[in-house]
Amino acid sequence: MQLIVFVILCLLPFTSSASPLHGIVMKVTDEDIKSEQSLLSLYSKWRSIHRPYEKESDKTVHVQGCENKLLKRYHIFKNNVRLIHASNNRPNVTYTLGLNKFADLSNDEFRAKYTRSPKMFQQTRSKKLQSFMYENVTEPLPSYIDWRDNGAVTSAKDQGPCGSCWAFSTVAAVEGINQIRTGKLISLSEQELIDCDKKINEGCNGGLMDYAFKFIVENGGISTEARYPYNANDNKCDIKRTSSPAVSIDGYEDVPANNTNALLKAVSHQPVSVAIEAGGVYFQFYWRGVFSGTCGTNLDHGVAIVGYGETNEGVKYWLVKNSWGLDWGESGYIRMQRDEAQEGICGINKMASYPVKLANNLSSKTSNSLIQLSLGRKSFLST
Ligand SMILES: *[C@@H]1O[C@H](CO)[C@@H](O)[C@H](O)[C@H]1NC(C)=O
Ligand SMILES: *[C@@H]1O[C@H](CO)[C@@H](O)[C@H](O)[C@H]1NC(C)=O
Ligand SMILES: *[C@@H]1O[C@H](CO)[C@@H](O)[C@H](O)[C@H]1NC(C)=O
Ligand SMILES: *[C@@H]1O[C@H](CO)[C@@H](O)[C@H](O)[C@H]1NC(C)=O
Repeated sequence: MQLIVFVILCLLPFTSSASPLHGIVMKVTDEDIKSEQSLLSLYSKWRSIHRPYEKESDKTVHVQGCENKLLKRYHIFKNNVRLIHASNNRPNVTYTLGLNKFADLSNDEFRAKYTRSPKMFQQTRSKKLQSFMYENVTEPLPSYIDWRDNGAVTSAKDQGPCGSCWAFSTVAAVEGINQIRTGKLISLSEQELIDCDKKINEGCNGGLMDYAFKFIVENGGISTEARYPYNANDNKCDIKRTSSPAVSIDGYEDVPANNTNALLKAVSHQPVSVAIEAGGVYFQFYWRGVFSGTCGTNLDHGVAIVGYGETNEGVKYWLVKNSWGLDWGESGYIRMQRDEAQEGICGINKMASYPVKLANNLSSKTSNSLIQLSLGRKSFLST
């Protein structure tokens, strides 16, 4: 019986060229989990979409090796299918899981590959008294905001198998404030942060957004994505590319921890970098809807909040930009429940921060015009 399964798997007809279906998330139906046969056929379909380049059917592949590797994947896949089906059939669940590109990875493998370095995220933030520039923002705040509608968010990017989430989180927030201050949406370089921001951050091994903001301030800015493109590896810092930054910031601030309302104030003014626990299996297979867990609050992933709102059913959410490609979640995004819990969903209230940009003084250093920016009741003056 087992042997037959091996052989069938090894002879599955895989599509060999780029499939137009590449990246689509598949649902799990009652029919799919009815029998070994239906599960096998689901796996074959999933592989044809998500693993089109792995040609185990190729006659040159050693059959024994193929059997073992594929069988292991198939067992993992089956477990995931059952978990997804069970979760989607829970009563009143506000989100749906799907068979995405991670469907043949165990949760341990997923966590090791795509989330990184709890060690880095556990570091406490500096104890010094911090200012929070949105502290005195007048309420009520808008009930809905989506910074994508304002042109302040680039399309979701893909970190690949490199623990560089912190760089993507940082860049999303900087791209956002730069567009808000200058009107220009410029895609910026995560790779520069990975290669050059080495004082404390550790490239593909993890990092923290605040250190990256600090690097950008000290470096006088950050390069564009086009000039310093992403390759998901740790490389030597390219001094030439890092010495001609395209976008600068003036500083960064932390949002007071455990405070949903403070986070709301910040997000109503700009995209905000946050850390969450994303290593859980429900997060792994999130497809659509408002994610409400289960997840813990042991921070292991950096993302960016780029809006908030409320569904027709009255479920409040944060709109979160992830860095796992367009083929994860809602075109690269996840809506996460926004509640009053101290630490927030998956710890989202614990470590939020944002870059401060007063004006675009990178290209207009000689200009001495007064620029006044209204930030709630507070006004900043900058020459
Ligand atoms: C599901 O929601 C309905 C309507 O709000 C409620 O009556 C019911 O008790 C809920 N069921 C569970 C298991 O929470
Ligand atoms: C907010 O208002 C208080 C009281 O007036 C003031 O002490 C504080 O400095 C203000 N905070 C900011 C960030 O402007
Ligand atoms: C946030 O809340 C958690 C849980 O209540 C607590 O352990 C932690 O110390 C709080 N952090 C801050 C900075 O208040
Ligand atoms: C931009 O202006 C601010 C305020 O004047 C200043 O502190 C900062 O150093 C300037 N940044 C750059 C990159 O020139």
